[in-house]
Amino acid sequence: MFDGFSRKIDYLRLSVTDRCNFFCMYCRTKDLYYERIDQLSKEEIFRIISAFKKLGIQKLRITGGEPFLRDDIFEIIEFAHSIGIENINITTNGWLDTEKIKKVIKSPLKSVNISLDTLDKEKYRSVTGIDGLDKVLTAIDELREHKRVKINTVLIRSVNLDEIEDLISFAKKSNIIIRFIELMPIGIANQIFEDEFVSKDEVIKRFKGIKEVSTKEVSAAKYYYVEDFDYTVGFISSVSDHFCKTCNKVRVSSTGVLYNCLFDKNGLELREFLDDEDLLLKKIEDFVKKKKLIRSLKSDMPMFKIGG
Ligand code: GTP
Ligand code: 5AD
Ligand code: SF4
Repeated sequence: MFDGFSRKIDYLRLSVTDRCNFFCMYCRTKDLYYERIDQLSKEEIFRIISAFKKLGIQKLRITGGEPFLRDDIFEIIEFAHSIGIENINITTNGWLDTEKIKKVIKSPLKSVNISLDTLDKEKYRSVTGIDGLDKVLTAIDELREHKRVKINTVLIRSVNLDEIEDLISFAKKSNIIIRFIELMPIGIANQIFEDEFVSKDEVIKRFKGIKEVSTKEVSAAKYYYVEDFDYTVGFISSVSDHFCKTCNKVRVSSTGVLYNCLFDKNGLELREFLDDEDLLLKKIEDFVKKKKLIRSLKSDMPMFKIGG
């Protein structure tokens, strides 16, 4: 499927739930009242995945909320695999018990992206609202032998600007990929953005001998070799250096709304067309043709609904 600017759209980010057991300071807070709207059922998700497969989607990333809170998450992954999607990935907060870790290892998932903003137990609790660092570090350690694990670290001035070196050393020691993500002005992150935003350039300036490394993969991340650490580190710098020109993705929210961009206000309600696949395919194609070339600057959409 192509958009109106001849960009090949072959990557779907599907948010399977807006539920989450964490309260990351830039995503959702404990005191906010969240209106509960029905999340997609397993059957609805199967129809959506099938439609996108027919439209040429080759890469699927399952997001949330916290996708592993769904009891049927492994059935969803297996279904996507059974219809021929090879490149299936997931983004999680990493709060996984032994049983789930075993299932992840056995599953056809290609990679697991895990949020880790700090290595300090107390800071971890204050950033996420959960005393979960040890559990998440165990999950990272158990998964890294079997799956491609990438750590997502959102740069937050008051939290981890003094931990960048420690986080890189941790990633190197564990032999996993780390990506530092610029805080984006989305949802409640708008409230802290001015004080807490740190740009990629501010971090890069701290290191001597840093050079960009090219990768084959189309990705939101750019990778840099850092001589001080003899290690390659990723940055997702969508605020200071957006990558819209090469964007290959669309998103479906946990309630089945298709968005051409993370920052879009208007989406297409897919639920209305799920009973008629031909119509569904046409509606999706027509909508994707309208994908804008460059994104808007900020969004009020809660991140846990659209899935990042
Ligand atoms: P892979 O490249 O498949 O590993 O996925 P990813 O790194 O894009 O996925 P992940 O869910 O781990 O997201 C990491 C961060 O990148 C999150 O903060 C996302 O919101 C952000 N991100 C991913 N894609 C885009 C995009 O197209 N635009 C913007 N602005 N941010 C994105
Ligand atoms: N800006 C940047 N990244 C964010 N994430 C959640 N909210 C934001 C934001 N406002 C990250 C999470 C997770 C990924 C899906 O998105 O930390 O790693
Ligand atoms: Fe949950 Fe992810 Fe949002 Fe954190 S960023 S509260 S883990 S959905």
